[in-house]
Amino acid sequence: MKVLVTGGAGYIGSHVVADLVKAGHDVAVVDNLSSGQRQHVHPSARFYLADTTRPIELAKVFVTETGSAPIDVVMHFAAKLDVEESVRLPLAYYHNNVEGLRIVLACMLDAGVKNIVFSSTAAVYGDPLAQEPLSEHMPTLPINPYGSSKRAAEQLIQWVSASDGINYAILRYFNAAGADESCALGLEKPHYTHLVPLAVRAALGLEDAVKIFGDDWQTPDGTCIRDYIHVSDLSDAHLLAAQYLLTEQKSLLLNLGTAQGSSVKEVIAAVDKLRPCPYQVVGKRAGDPAVLIADASKAHEVLGWCPQRDLDVIVKSDLNYRLRART
Ligand code: UFG
Repeated sequence: MKVLVTGGAGYIGSHVVADLVKAGHDVAVVDNLSSGQRQHVHPSARFYLADTTRPIELAKVFVTETGSAPIDVVMHFAAKLDVEESVRLPLAYYHNNVEGLRIVLACMLDAGVKNIVFSSTAAVYGDPLAQEPLSEHMPTLPINPYGSSKRAAEQLIQWVSASDGINYAILRYFNAAGADESCALGLEKPHYTHLVPLAVRAALGLEDAVKIFGDDWQTPDGTCIRDYIHVSDLSDAHLLAAQYLLTEQKSLLLNLGTAQGSSVKEVIAAVDKLRPCPYQVVGKRAGDPAVLIADASKAHEVLGWCPQRDLDVIVKSDLNYRLRART
């Protein structure tokens, strides 16, 4: 299949691009390199330095690409995704995540592209009261502009699907982490906020210590519980979802997680097994729910998708990536 990937130089996008190329697909990447890494784009993918929020720029890419053969699927990763930043810059989040998507959808309609795989997030669920696995039917009540912009984007896709007959796979990621097997790709940021890279960086001496945001939560060990999903497992789900859209010509909305929760202390212990991981307990971070675990049964039933890599693989791959990239 021929796939146009927006945000294909970013963390999850670059893993999916590499896997698409390895599986023999024809791949073009659009990225503005605001946070992605050009060197993370597989050399066999065609690369366009372009911004999804600029209609003329993006339309040119679609015209060039459809000139040779029709695009079967757009995978739309390009987005802003820092929760704390979104609280400070809500307009920028809606501009990138909703207006950027609107322009992608308009280009798809003009070019006759019928299928979109969309990166969404568990942040659309907000702060659920019940500490039970979240199924796709649970209410979506985002508590920050990031989650809210992603929910609005999901809705826009669903409206355009109804009006223009496109098929979508909306994929709600839980806590993406880890690096690919070759350790050539991984999460790089000028300022890290996620637990796994921060814990690994503390173990490597790149941070003084990882902070535990509160140890008096209503959880067995007092620290927050999340569902950590390996980025290569996420990538596998994207390929399956795209194939589903092409063969079934039906839409999908799926959680992508492992259905297993790990506490902050368990993540630190997993890193500590590889290298001593210094930590300190500090106060709670605003907006953190105590527990977020996916009910991932639908992705299993519909796509046959089953995550293969556990927390130990996640932290080991992140560590190996950072040893290699020194970041
Ligand atoms: N945490 C710490 N110390 C840190 C960083 C995080 O204790 O230095 C804790 C947090 O309190 C939380 C857990 O580790 O309990 C995971 O935090 P992350 O920042 O790694 O991830 P979040 O669960 O906050 O957010 C992630 C994505 C969001 C997405 C959300 C959906 O980053 O984009 O999952 O569940 F919206």
